[in-house]
Amino acid sequence: MNDKQKYYITTPIYYPSDKLHIGHTYCTVATDTLARYKRLQGYDVMFLTGTDEHGQKIELKAQEAGITPKEFVDRIVEGPRGVKDLWKLMDISNDRFIRTTDDYHVKAIQKIFRRMYDNGDIYKGTYKGKYCTPCESFWTESQLKDGCCPDCGRPVVDAEEEAYFFRLSKYADKVKDLLENTDFLQPRSRVNEMVKNFIEPGLEDLCVSRTSFSWGIPVDFDPKHVVYVWLDALFNYVTALGFENDRYDDYEAWWPGINIVGKEIVRFHSIIWPAFCMSLGMPLPKHVFGHGWLLLDGGKMSKSKGNVVDPYILAEQFGVDALRFFLMRTFPFGSDGNFSNELLIQTINTDLANDLGNLLSRTTAMVGKYFGGGLPAGCGATADEKDLAGMIAQGNVVGLTMDFPEGDPTKYDCELIGAAAALRGKYEEAMEAFAPHKALDEVFKVIQRANKYIDENAPWALAKDMEANGARLAHVLYDLLEATRICGILLTPFMPGSMEKLFVQAGVDKAAQTWESAGVWGVLSDTAAVIKGENLFPRVDAQAALEKLEAAEAEARKAALPAVEFEPFTEDEVDFDTFCKSDFRAVKVKDCQPVKKSNKLLRFTLDDGTGTDRQILSGIAKWYKPEDLIGKTLVAIVNLPPRKMMGQESCGMLISAVHTEKGEEVLHLLMIDDAIPAGAKMC
Ligand code: ME8
Ligand code: MG
Repeated sequence: MNDKQKYYITTPIYYPSDKLHIGHTYCTVATDTLARYKRLQGYDVMFLTGTDEHGQKIELKAQEAGITPKEFVDRIVEGPRGVKDLWKLMDISNDRFIRTTDDYHVKAIQKIFRRMYDNGDIYKGTYKGKYCTPCESFWTESQLKDGCCPDCGRPVVDAEEEAYFFRLSKYADKVKDLLENTDFLQPRSRVNEMVKNFIEPGLEDLCVSRTSFSWGIPVDFDPKHVVYVWLDALFNYVTALGFENDRYDDYEAWWPGINIVGKEIVRFHSIIWPAFCMSLGMPLPKHVFGHGWLLLDGGKMSKSKGNVVDPYILAEQFGVDALRFFLMRTFPFGSDGNFSNELLIQTINTDLANDLGNLLSRTTAMVGKYFGGGLPAGCGATADEKDLAGMIAQGNVVGLTMDFPEGDPTKYDCELIGAAAALRGKYEEAMEAFAPHKALDEVFKVIQRANKYIDENAPWALAKDMEANGARLAHVLYDLLEATRICGILLTPFMPGSMEKLFVQAGVDKAAQTWESAGVWGVLSDTAAVIKGENLFPRVDAQAALEKLEAAEAEARKAALPAVEFEPFTEDEVDFDTFCKSDFRAVKVKDCQPVKKSNKLLRFTLDDGTGTDRQILSGIAKWYKPEDLIGKTLVAIVNLPPRKMMGQESCGMLISAVHTEKGEEVLHLLMIDDAIPAGAKMC
């Protein structure tokens, strides 16, 4: 029996309509950080993410790609650099991954739909309204913004079809009460928007089936209808636990949980989702948290707009943990923020290289230099220090009011210990309020305090007289290691890989890495082996990094281009007589030379069968070396009027085959059988 407290948290399930971008990564990293934080605290955590694979948008995308919708989503979810690869790369610790095309989910949705039909909450009617295809959203006239989709601003289309409806109106009052009188929806600032924009104008019943396309879960008792993609999607949070299916048996133990979502889908999660739950008599989600958007040049990054930042490129260049850290440190979780590469580099340099990196490398280097990698026994926390830290950790000391004589080093010790001892409480408060950025802010205040402590104590000066000051120096270094340890524990949910390395360098064993020990001063063994290891967070040269990024982005754009493309076929017809006027002949290359001052042109001397040499200039120097062409049999049109190019005459034109590969032009001269004599006419 597992009697640990349970904590269930989810990300949205993303549309695999395209590669995921830094916005999705932001939400998944944040949710991962919360999950890891709760595990650190000793909770039994279930962390779910996944993909939302049905709907018209994906059907259309697959059609464009010439493959089935399932093949299309398989590529994006399971394929190289797909969704699952991305989460592995980003060190995401999800316990489950749900795909809405998974058989158990499909069957569960059919049962759920039938249950709501049987209980009278779903009925058949006619749908008339406006539909935004990219968002998969139906809107009423009054919800449109300037006649366009209120979410994405794009045009909507008229839609009318026989459809099933969910009695959302029936739940309006209960949902309003939930939003206004509980802490269900967070941050609180989103409540008003939901109530004013959606509930007060009157909640209409919701259309929950479609007949206009087929890529969805069929309504089992009326299979020309497929289930509306949002009904299909929202229930993922419980089907993944085994609700209405036998694949898992965890629903009773884990539901309700916490749904972390972006602000644009708060409407679905805070109005429709609880109403669905109410209809089935299920417990409501504990919280829905609506985080803000990452913006690019002030606009939302989105797959359908194509203005996206590729997390692979950033993680490869800067490291996974630096990227994770940047996302959590820089953008207050409930608000929008502008993404930029410059900001990313600045954050890495300031917080990771300067503050944290320096604290660790200076401290471990000094333990190495002055004490050979291990401090002397007895240099650790004193009983008084432990008492002080204990009182502060329990909130029994509001501020340090002790008076220290000028220059008394105890003052520095007490301040550092005080800051470190109070940290876990502040951090916890921020994390519980879904404010990871605030938690990091608290950690970095302590890191900065510790760096200041180095300067205050000037260990290099103490080291000049080890006999007199050796004990003090050891105590100073111990305090630094201990502050580093506490910060390291609390940074683990943010940068799990790097903190493992930090613990090795600072000599922190497993027992001193726990949540409990992050609230206690003096846990680190005073004689632990300290290693000056690799620099965990090297400084980034901004100029060079930006150039490298640009090159990587250009490369990625190129890789996304189609493999082979050629010009569309002409619609215009050419009459036979006109065509016959073109005189194509076999020609043999007698000589071929580069043209001075031109990097495009080659000058050909050709045998055209007349006995007189023919000169043709051709812009193909990019593709051929002149000497490779001598002796080849080519095709030329010989009755074009002569043209001057770079001061030389060109009498005709060589025929080539042209296409593009990954956006780049490729040219092949038309070479024909050498058995064909010069002058032979092509017809
Ligand atoms: O909405 N900034 O999927 P989706 C921050 N399938 N977060 C962003 C972001 C940005 N620029 N862009 C995307 C769907 N996100 C549905 C969800 S849930 C039952 C169904 C994040 O692929 C953010 O969390 O459009 C947002 O809510 C989510 O990705 C939407 O992903
Ligand atoms: Mg979206």
